[in-house]
Amino acid sequence: MALQNDSFLQACRGLRPSRTPVWMMRQAGRYLPEYREVRSKVSFTELCRTPELCAEVTLQPIDILGVDAAILFSDILVVLDALGVEVIFDPAPRIEAPVRTVADVDRIRWGDPREEVAYVYAAVRACKAALADRVPLIGFCGAPFTTLSYLVEGKGSRDFEHIKGLCFREPGVFHGLMERMTDLLIVYLKAQVEAGADALQIFDSWAGALAPDDYREHVLPHLHRLVVEVQGASVPVICFARGNANLLAEVATIPADVIGIDWSITLADAISVVGPERVVQGNLDPMVLLADAALIERKARAIVEAGKGARAHIFNLGHGISRHTDPGLARHLIEVVHSA
Ligand code: CP3
Repeated sequence: MALQNDSFLQACRGLRPSRTPVWMMRQAGRYLPEYREVRSKVSFTELCRTPELCAEVTLQPIDILGVDAAILFSDILVVLDALGVEVIFDPAPRIEAPVRTVADVDRIRWGDPREEVAYVYAAVRACKAALADRVPLIGFCGAPFTTLSYLVEGKGSRDFEHIKGLCFREPGVFHGLMERMTDLLIVYLKAQVEAGADALQIFDSWAGALAPDDYREHVLPHLHRLVVEVQGASVPVICFARGNANLLAEVATIPADVIGIDWSITLADAISVVGPERVVQGNLDPMVLLADAALIERKARAIVEAGKGARAHIFNLGHGISRHTDPGLARHLIEVVHSA
């Protein structure tokens, strides 16, 4: 079945649809009263494990805001269920027993996500059925480094002492873990495509923890392998590394179909780093949505204008939407981008 609105996929493939396609990271979330209503009845974990509810909240921003793509409602840490690792969402994620020692590493049970997190694939199928080909569905995962960082740190971190300590002190152990994590994520993502995902985004949200030369040496080869392997499933792949615009030149060496740009660099500068032949996605600072319609309009138009310097541009925020955002202003942003 052909999609009714495939502007997002066209842009992923380097074409320039008549309107700039737009979606927002964390577009299904607590800033929407309709989401809070669903969440008042179930925990976040239960929500992720209930395909019908996943489909309901995945579609909320499509109906309410008019975005051009849906993103599966889940979390980058759900995949740790395949390792038998329990993640507590409070709402920030926390792991009771992080992996710190070589003995911890040896105890990891690398399960098959197709069996251990079958509910993710049921959710993809439920989202596709509910979308009825209105817009494409984006599947996703955390990048190997970001996912492994959570497993080792056990929670968000300022200094990333444990994961960086492991990387610099025991590079062999670190490398082995990155290799296994990449294998796991390849299976995890390819099965999302088999279940119906039309595109994939890989979130390296904690990339900025490392200096560019260390990122190149210890992280990039694994991310590269993940991207190339899942491109074999024939859907476009978006690679989003956050936290240090100096990493952009490194990330651009990966042949991802789309490069996600965070808010810490102007889009024009980002395009000059990655090159005008690449497709970019981004990059409005999500906190601009806390201001008023006039500022949102001015900032959004500047980004659409800068995006013309790239082969193609998908409008997005430069990180996840804040839960204090007024949904009316979020909808205004989508309208501004579509009419720019
Ligand atoms: O974008 C979407 O709408 C799809 C769903 C999605 C969620 N998390 C839902 C969620 C996606 C793609 C993610 C990715 C994710 N999760 C990332 C990568 C993106 C980024 O932010 O850099 C990261 C680092 C996480 C880890 C995570 N999960 C954090 C830090 C938190 C707490 C966030 C907060 O706002 O307090 C979560 C929980 C989470 N994931 C929520 C949602 C809607 C809030 C949970 C709730 O409803 O209580």
